[in-house]
Amino acid sequence: MRDRTSFTTDVDRAPVLGWQRARGRADRRRPRSDSGRSTVATDERELRREVAAVYRTVADTPDEGADLPFPSGRGLASRLGYPPAEIGRLPPAAVDSFTGVGYHLDLADLADGDVVLVLGSGSGTDAFVAAARVGDRGRVIGVDPVPEQLANARRCREEIGAANVSLPRATAEALPLEEGTVDVVLSNGAITLSPRPERALEEASRVLRSGGRLAVSELVGERRLPERIRTDPALWAAGIGGAVRVDDYAGLLETAGFGDVTLRENPWYEFVSDRARGVCQQYGVGSVSVRARCRR
Ligand SMILES: C[S@@+](CC[C@H](N)C(=O)[O-])C[C@H]1O[C@@H](n2cnc3c(N)ncnc32)[C@H](O)[C@@H]1O
Repeated sequence: MRDRTSFTTDVDRAPVLGWQRARGRADRRRPRSDSGRSTVATDERELRREVAAVYRTVADTPDEGADLPFPSGRGLASRLGYPPAEIGRLPPAAVDSFTGVGYHLDLADLADGDVVLVLGSGSGTDAFVAAARVGDRGRVIGVDPVPEQLANARRCREEIGAANVSLPRATAEALPLEEGTVDVVLSNGAITLSPRPERALEEASRVLRSGGRLAVSELVGERRLPERIRTDPALWAAGIGGAVRVDDYAGLLETAGFGDVTLRENPWYEFVSDRARGVCQQYGVGSVSVRARCRR
């Protein structure tokens, strides 16, 4: 077995086998904006900058210490339904910086030996829970674009010696993985943060093996959000601006090659700030957990 230092160097920095080829292919693809329903017509870089700033704060100011519009930390994990025994085994630095909008690991049916991809692995909580479930014969790849989140998660990984977890820096829209190499894709609010959710779902479908599972919790809306809400950087970084209408989300899944979709509402997920709560109430924005199968 390789020692942990060489594992970190190989997997995190010169990432997963074939990543350059995979990224080159993804970059050549033009993003689709068929109905304009999911691709944001604004300065995408500004939205990504705001997301990075918010999640830097999440990494650097753990356990509800930060002035964030959304809940975080151990209390959130427990409210969402994460099993206390599994959370209790994780490093405090991971759980204290946990963020997410639902619990969907029960929908993922993780089995010993599975290869799992976590989109937006953040503090590492979802990745470490998954890693324990898939065991030493399995593998978890957590991608996140925010260096401070990755740094925190990598420190936690060292602490628990989770040699089956790799944490390369990447976005959900350009995955450093070969096609058909993953059994399960997880996301806890990361697809909602992508200015190109259709691209993120296409990438998830590309890397999943045929019949592979997608299990995610995301924010969706009962109504389409007006442009001024969708392009507000603060609301975007809170995950609200990217909340597509629930029917549109189903359409995005189908277009990306997913079927057998089941959806569960998470009514207990609530924002902290008055502004965020007000917008959610006005447009019927809420959290759902979704399970789907790759039909490719
Ligand atoms: C709601 S948090 C989920 C955190 C994670 N579940 C955990 O265990 O802490 C969403 C994560 O998605 C990341 N993110 C933001 N934009 C992303 C993108 N385009 N692709 C992938 N991840 C992204 C954020 O940096 C953040 O860490």
